[in-house]
Amino acid sequence: MLKTHTCGELTKEQVGQPVTLAGWVNKRRSFGNLIFIDLRDRWGVTQVVVDAQGAPEAHETADSARSEYVLQIAGEVSARSEDTVNPNMPTGEIEVLASSIVVLNAAKTPPIEITGEKESNEALRLRYRYLDLRRARMQRNMKLRHDTTLFMRNFLSQRGFIEIETPILFKTTPEGARDYLVPSRVHPGRFYALPQSPQQLKQLLMVSGYERYFQIARCFRDEDQRGDRQPEFTQLDMEMSFVERDDVLDLLTELMTEMVQTVSDKRLTHSPFPRISYAEAVEKYGTDRPDLRFGLAFTDVSEIVKRGSFKVFNGAIENGGRVRTVVAPGCAGYSRKQIGELEAIAKENGAGGLATVAVQDDGTIKSSIAKFFEDGVMAELVKAAGAEPGDLILFGADSDAITNEVLGALRGHLGQTLELTDPEELCFVWVIDFPLFEWNEDEERWDPSHHPFTSPKPEHIDLLDSDPAAVLSNQYDLVCNGYEVAGGSIRIHDRTVQEKIFSLINIPDDVARERFGHLLDAFEYGAPPHGGIAPGLDRLVMLMAGEPNIREVIAFPKNQRASDTMAGAPTAVEQAQLDELHIQLGEGVDPYESEEPPESE
Ligand code: AMO
Ligand code: AMP
Repeated sequence: MLKTHTCGELTKEQVGQPVTLAGWVNKRRSFGNLIFIDLRDRWGVTQVVVDAQGAPEAHETADSARSEYVLQIAGEVSARSEDTVNPNMPTGEIEVLASSIVVLNAAKTPPIEITGEKESNEALRLRYRYLDLRRARMQRNMKLRHDTTLFMRNFLSQRGFIEIETPILFKTTPEGARDYLVPSRVHPGRFYALPQSPQQLKQLLMVSGYERYFQIARCFRDEDQRGDRQPEFTQLDMEMSFVERDDVLDLLTELMTEMVQTVSDKRLTHSPFPRISYAEAVEKYGTDRPDLRFGLAFTDVSEIVKRGSFKVFNGAIENGGRVRTVVAPGCAGYSRKQIGELEAIAKENGAGGLATVAVQDDGTIKSSIAKFFEDGVMAELVKAAGAEPGDLILFGADSDAITNEVLGALRGHLGQTLELTDPEELCFVWVIDFPLFEWNEDEERWDPSHHPFTSPKPEHIDLLDSDPAAVLSNQYDLVCNGYEVAGGSIRIHDRTVQEKIFSLINIPDDVARERFGHLLDAFEYGAPPHGGIAPGLDRLVMLMAGEPNIREVIAFPKNQRASDTMAGAPTAVEQAQLDELHIQLGEGVDPYESEEPPESE
């Protein structure tokens, strides 16, 4: 080894010992005869002192060294004088008096901030990701990610799970996104699909008798990018045989609880995690992934407002919609401008406007819609909404689809601006009893609300033909602070039921056989009842790290346009390679033209 110790481990204990350190120049300060170098490696930073008198050659080398040079420094550990002890760093009691310094490599001035307080812009950080990953924050995130997967592997191994790898070159496994396709050279005109998840394979492993499977699995989905979505991401993929829903929920609750307590410094608001039905989540919070670190549930006031004469409300109800409220606590004194901001959010999310009722501190009402309601009705309205003096009631009057969006966005905004969310808290909640299908307006057909392998609740199988909308499934999602962090279900293990579901979602028999024949066949050879779940690793680590998006916890993520700007992927390829793959580009397609414009520096 080129070093005897790391830059994070020396304390008073080693005073007087000769040591050799190696790492990067974090910071260099020169006071003429004395040069101080903060030397950094993965484990920390150690202060090195180079004295021109004691070590003239080392001093000369130190004088020429710059930020991010790679140095090997030999010297002796020395106690710092009391007034120079730095209690904020683990090595703050000591410094190393250098006797010799070797420049292992020089470094150009880095194009991004590595040690400074200020952060460079993300485009530049991604372009120079190998430098960005040197930063303390990224090193901490990568370590947390490692700790998390290690914890998962140990936890599951101890409970009889085994990790089995499944292929990346496979066949379409729909999870609701587009497939990434890989052309086959050997089979002209044919394509592998990269798995959107190992869903079918893990179910086949249950048919094969493995009973408890997991995999830290890479998944590929060609869909629009967002802060919590990447085209390739990682799941803790799991499947179990002979289980019922609560077995999966209980095991996952235990895993998540212990994981957060072991690897992160965040606080859990609850364990066991509360459960809420899909219907209740949407009714009260407008979404199936509510942030329950705070309340602000909606109230349906349709029956009360019907007794007034406000056209907007009555019109919404006549058109089959409803009027629901969310209360902004302590906001009765909001200025016109502040209310205007809330109204803008409502409109961005589809509302025609935003009616409000302020319940002033003395209990009197201030509202432009007060004139449409008799005092008694208004008092009932305030009571029903749960507003106290000092509160502001916000109204959503439209179809449920719109008011879910509008009130959901307002609730989220209030949670943030009123500081109702504690960034140190993780609030996990199970969402259960999802509908099996959702109606696809564009295509005029039923889509599976999870994936087509999710089983209907047995007591609802009879409704499949008569009332598909009413069929509930054995799907469950785990939500944390407003993010969906895991999704799973009890599966279908019966060929007839599986075929029935395919036909209801408009996959004709021959297509189903062509795509999923292996699974349908397998179900005829003794498929056990089974179920599973897949937590999204990136999102979990993001939440435990307190990061705003998953790119911060992925070593080499894609940018919002699904590109890797560091290596320059995707790229154009040689004609010879295309020929070998029997691929002809469409007319007018110029892969050189559509390349990412170079990032400004
Ligand atoms: P699902 O599609 O719900 O279920 O995915 C499971 C979890 O994976 C995470 N996730 C993502 N993370 C980052 N980027 C993405 N593009 C992305 N898409 C999903 C989420 C999500 O909760 N096979 C089923 C699981 C099962 O039924 O067992 C599946 O993939 O955290
Ligand atoms: P108006 O009578 O048009 O001045 O509207 C009275 C209040 O109702 C205003 O605060 C409007 O923003 C609000 N409002 C108007 N249209 C809607 C709507 N579609 N949904 C909810 N509130 C609305």
